[in-house]
Amino acid sequence: MKRSPAILLVLTAAFSLATLAPRAQTARPADHAAVDRLALTPPMGWYPWNEFGQEPQNETLIRQIADALVKSGMKDAGYTYVGPDEGICFSRGADGQLTPNLARYPSGLRGLGDEIHGLGLKYALYTDAGTLTCSKAMPGTRGHEIEDMASFAAWRADYVKIDWCNTRGQDIVETYTALGKAQRAAGRPIVHSLCSWGDGEPWKWAAAIGHMWRTTGDICGPGRANWAEALKIASLNEKLHEAAGPGHWNDPDMMIAGMDGLTDTENRSFFSLWCMMAAPLMAGNDPRRMTDATARVLTNLEAIAIDQDPLGVQGRIVRRDGAVEIWAAKPLVDGSRAVLVFNTGKAPATANVTWADAGFPDRSPLFVRDLWDHKTTGPYRGGIAVTVAPDGASFLRVSKTNRFPIPPIIVADKYRIVLRAEGASASTLSGAITVRNAGSDELPAWKVAPGLPAWLTVAVARKGKSQTLTNTVSTAGLATGSYHAVVRADNIEPVSGKPMSALYYDVDVEVTGRALGKTTGGNQEPE
Ligand code: GLA
Repeated sequence: MKRSPAILLVLTAAFSLATLAPRAQTARPADHAAVDRLALTPPMGWYPWNEFGQEPQNETLIRQIADALVKSGMKDAGYTYVGPDEGICFSRGADGQLTPNLARYPSGLRGLGDEIHGLGLKYALYTDAGTLTCSKAMPGTRGHEIEDMASFAAWRADYVKIDWCNTRGQDIVETYTALGKAQRAAGRPIVHSLCSWGDGEPWKWAAAIGHMWRTTGDICGPGRANWAEALKIASLNEKLHEAAGPGHWNDPDMMIAGMDGLTDTENRSFFSLWCMMAAPLMAGNDPRRMTDATARVLTNLEAIAIDQDPLGVQGRIVRRDGAVEIWAAKPLVDGSRAVLVFNTGKAPATANVTWADAGFPDRSPLFVRDLWDHKTTGPYRGGIAVTVAPDGASFLRVSKTNRFPIPPIIVADKYRIVLRAEGASASTLSGAITVRNAGSDELPAWKVAPGLPAWLTVAVARKGKSQTLTNTVSTAGLATGSYHAVVRADNIEPVSGKPMSALYYDVDVEVTGRALGKTTGGNQEPE
């Protein structure tokens, strides 16, 4: 093809601009979390795959598990996201839209989400980027990215895991980019979890698309915890520490702590490793029948504080001493630092942890908090000697002061307000959600983001570590019908002054047929 001189000039200019362009022009696009401020600390929740596999996943199981998360204290410790993984949840109808499987989910997938939100938990769903999910039991999103992400939003999902099976011939970056765009276009803020098991090295590009990405293959087959495999996965994930940070996390897979086949020592070590790696804490055990010892591991707020630290640094191995690994390089928001001494050997071992290992000057007098024994000792200068059982871990927090605060852990009584109005004249209705910080400090008041619909106002009242967001709806001018809003509220972490993960919840208003002469007003919140 013959090019005109004008076109050549433009091409030459473009080329020289590209070659001279500073590196910043090729910097990766903004993180997904910069928009929605979700997952600024690693997501916590529960997923069925490790314990149950595909069967028996159904509405009864998920509801029982959601109840168990509440009753066992796991919800109070920060576990929030829950829902089906791969199972038989939906199929694709003739119109191309996903249709819930009502035999297994009689309330529908939106109905299950409403139940979960009513318990103060967030709703997680699963799909695949290919033509079919891994088991081939459900359709994948290939060619239906826009409709499917719209369905997940309509079902009120807050978290979507997107697997990478049956993707022959698909470009991984293009595929997940399209899914990320489709999800944003659907308009509901959702934690976007990529699951390519490390294929395509997502730690290099996925922060712009989602909030977390699997770095490795599956940690176990359904129902079979595998300690050796977990250690291999930890070792692969450890090397990727630079990629993790607020809003973009390496995901070494769902947890096996509390599953059959692991000892209490292994459970503690596993949990310590996942917390040290700032990994998403998606529990994989059966919380309906866990032992007290497992519950103590999974709800240990002092360990969770290391995982949920707002700086979001992934710790790593700084030194090996025989079979003992010394994990550190994990500064925490209050100036303290986490250290994990993990014995991979078959005999008890003693290691000297120096303050230089921990990241402090050698001569500093430092206090040591044992995160499993819940005891503070010191101050010590230079370091301490630690003896650890085989497969055991000593999980420590080292600080100049003897105060070891827990960062914000947000627990809500519910994530959905339902209001109904009926009558000839306008009414005012209200419903509240209460949000508690299970961490040490009071938070500043939650700030409700602008952009609420005209019929809704939200007022925030603080009482110690709890805050109530009262939602007032005026039906004046509203026609009969259903109204929905997603409320967003923001907060800042009190020590660092950095933004915390945004809080989102749903408000539904039903204005029913107007019965002449009858007015319904005041506070009303059925369900
Ligand atoms: C993949 C994922 C697992 C699980 C299964 C479901 O293997 O990595 O976590 O979701 O698919 O088939």
